[in-house]
Amino acid sequence: MDGEDEFAVFTSNLIKKLGNFIAVNNLNLKVKRGEIYGLLGPNGAGKTTTIKLLCNLTKPNGGKGHLLGKKFSDNTIASNIGYMPQETALYDGLTVYQNILFFGEVYGLSSKKIRNRSDELLKFINLEKWRDELVENLSGGMKHRLSLACTLIHEPKLLFLDEPTVGVDPELKMSFWNYFYKLKSMNTTILITTHYMEEAHHCDRVGFMKDGGLITEGSPTELLHQTNTDSLEDAFIKFSLGR
Ligand SMILES: Nc1ncnc2c1ncn2[C@@H]1O[C@H](COP(=O)(O)OP(=O)(O)OP(=O)(O)O)[C@@H](O)[C@H]1O
Ligand SMILES: [Mg+2]
Repeated sequence: MDGEDEFAVFTSNLIKKLGNFIAVNNLNLKVKRGEIYGLLGPNGAGKTTTIKLLCNLTKPNGGKGHLLGKKFSDNTIASNIGYMPQETALYDGLTVYQNILFFGEVYGLSSKKIRNRSDELLKFINLEKWRDELVENLSGGMKHRLSLACTLIHEPKLLFLDEPTVGVDPELKMSFWNYFYKLKSMNTTILITTHYMEEAHHCDRVGFMKDGGLITEGSPTELLHQTNTDSLEDAFIKFSLGR
């Protein structure tokens, strides 16, 4: 028993090569069920590539991975997973509501369920007034908010959020985090990447990726102890420089 069932995310020596470059290098990542896990690391460390592997959007060159106890290549887990990409994937020519509707239909939700969920989500992302506006007319931060709503439409048990709060104003950022805590209280697992260290503090545990591998992990406080610093910014720089 390797622990595939015990963890929401479990990878063992995961490898992804992009041309001659090894983007994910023998990654061993374990995210407990119901925790908020922050994946940190410098640009190009392999965070997005890791999430794409886990969401079965690209094939690994080696290693294995399980999500919620099933192989990540198992299509039956898709309905339990939500993925918010770093680059928002919305339909500019559709309205805000039509985008939510589209994602709801992809996940096979009933029209009634989609209506109820979209009312709830539009309120949460504070875009109720923009419901019938074309996405191309939204600001960058608004598009990000809509992207999160589309990710949450089917109430996934495991969420991959790749820099979900980039360009989101501070007030809404706080409401995003309140919502993440609410999801956690309902036993949803969240794997989140961020370059905002104040957000890293909100995570139960954080892992630091560099050159495609995990070089350390622990609670935010443990990372401060490991680096003998009192800010995660300083800890980040120390890990980046390999000190
Ligand atoms: N098609 C490709 N061919 C070769 N290298 C690639 C390709 N796509 C990505 N890479 C490289 O893979 C590395 C990992 O990229 P990835 O997007 O996973 O990093 P990241 O940790 O998410 O970075 P960021 O914090 O900037 O989002 C980068 O160095 C990138 O240049
Ligand atoms: Mg990235």
